[in-house]
Amino acid sequence: MFVCICKAVTEDEVHEHCADGADSADAIGERCGAGWGCGTCVDRLKEILERSAVSTAA
Ligand code: FES
Repeated sequence: MFVCICKAVTEDEVHEHCADGADSADAIGERCGAGWGCGTCVDRLKEILERSAVSTAA
């Protein structure tokens, strides 16, 4: 499922960037461009980041 329609970035890709050390929406944007188009997906990116941080902290 796409998280970022503008850049065609999937949720799986975002998870991979999180696992690879991306710790902010900007860091994800630097890697794949997500969030750097219309900006609609930024909240969704942050949600994924938060969940990822919780799961890596556990
Ligand atoms: S949907 Fe991600 S920047 Fe537009």
